[in-house]
Amino acid sequence: MIDLTVEFAGYTLKNPITTASGTFGSGMEYSGFVDLGRLGAVTTKGVSDKPWEGNPTPRVTETPSGMMNAIGLQNPGVDVFIERDLGFLEAFDVPVIVNVCGHSEEEYEAVLERLSEDRRVSMFEINVSCPNVKQGAIQFGTDPDMLTDITKKCKAKAGKKPVIMKLTPNVTSIADMARAAEEGGADGISLINTLTAMKIDIYRRSFVLANKTGGLSGPAIHPVAVRMVYEASHAVKIPVIGMGGVASYEDAVELMMAGASVVGVGMMNFAEPDITIRIIDGIERYMKDTGLERIRDITGIL
Ligand SMILES: Cc1cc2nc3c(=O)[nH]c(=O)nc-3n(C[C@H](O)[C@H](O)[C@H](O)COP(=O)(O)O)c2cc1C
Repeated sequence: MIDLTVEFAGYTLKNPITTASGTFGSGMEYSGFVDLGRLGAVTTKGVSDKPWEGNPTPRVTETPSGMMNAIGLQNPGVDVFIERDLGFLEAFDVPVIVNVCGHSEEEYEAVLERLSEDRRVSMFEINVSCPNVKQGAIQFGTDPDMLTDITKKCKAKAGKKPVIMKLTPNVTSIADMARAAEEGGADGISLINTLTAMKIDIYRRSFVLANKTGGLSGPAIHPVAVRMVYEASHAVKIPVIGMGGVASYEDAVELMMAGASVVGVGMMNFAEPDITIRIIDGIERYMKDTGLERIRDITGIL
C-alpha cells in the first residue's frame, strides 16, 4: 500500500507535488502535457489588483544549470484571472493555490478581498519576495516586522482560506523570516523564491537583462533551497512548501526530508513540460523500492 497523500493547512492533497508560481501559468499551456488532476495542487502565476506590464525586455537569460528572469510579475490582473483562469481550472479536480502580488498592502488586500469567497480558490500564496519589482514586494519579505504586519493584514482579508507566505532567500536569516510569518498568523510558508543575480555581456559591454539584475532559478539553486527549507522548517511549527531547482523525484524527496510537506516544481517545467507527472511517478517508485508506505512520514526526518 502506497500512500502519496499529504496534509497541508487543512487540505489533504493527492500527492506532495505542486507547480512553482510563474512557471506554469494557470496550467492552460501545459494541459496538453500534464493531466492537471494528477497534481497535488496547481499554484498560479502572481495575480495583482490591476494589470501589470512587467519589465522591459530582454528579461530572461540562460545560466549554467538554470536561468535568470526579470519578468516583473506581468499579469492581466484579478478580473481577467477570475474570468479566464479560474474558469478554466474549475474543470479539474485539483486544489488551486493563488499566488498574490502587489506594490502596497492595499494592492494585496484588494486581490484577497476579490477572491476570499471564491469556492474555486483553495489557498493563497503571498509573494513578498519578488526581487524584480521596484517597490513593495521584496521590502515586505526582507524586514521581519514588515513581514509579520503584512501577514496579519493578508490573514484579515483572506476569509477562511489559508495564507502561505512565500519567502525570499535574499536574507541573512531565513529562520527569522519564517518565525516572522508564523507570528503574523501564516498557515504555511513557501520557499525559496529566486536568488538575485546579474549577468554581463562582455562584448556589448552591457547588462544582459534590461533590469540589470534578475532572479536565478533552476538546478543551480537547489542546494541553497535544501539548506533554507531545513533551517526555516526547524524554526516554525507551520508547514512548508519547498521549491528551488527541483529536477527529479530525488530532489523532491530531498526537500521533504529537509522539512517540506509539499514540493513546488518551477523552472524545469520550461525544459520538460511533463516533469511534474514524472516526479510523482518517481516518488511512487521510490516508495516501493525503499518500503516507504506513507510519503508524509519523511517530512522533516533530518
Ligand atoms: C519565469 C519565472 C517567473 C516567476 N514568477 C513568479 C511569480 O509570479 N510569483 C512568485 O511567487 N514566484 C515566481 N517565480 C519564482 C518561482 O516560483 C520559484 O520560487 C523559483 O523559481 C525557484 O524554483 P525553481 O528553481 O524550481 O524555478 C518565478 C520564477 C520564474 C523562473
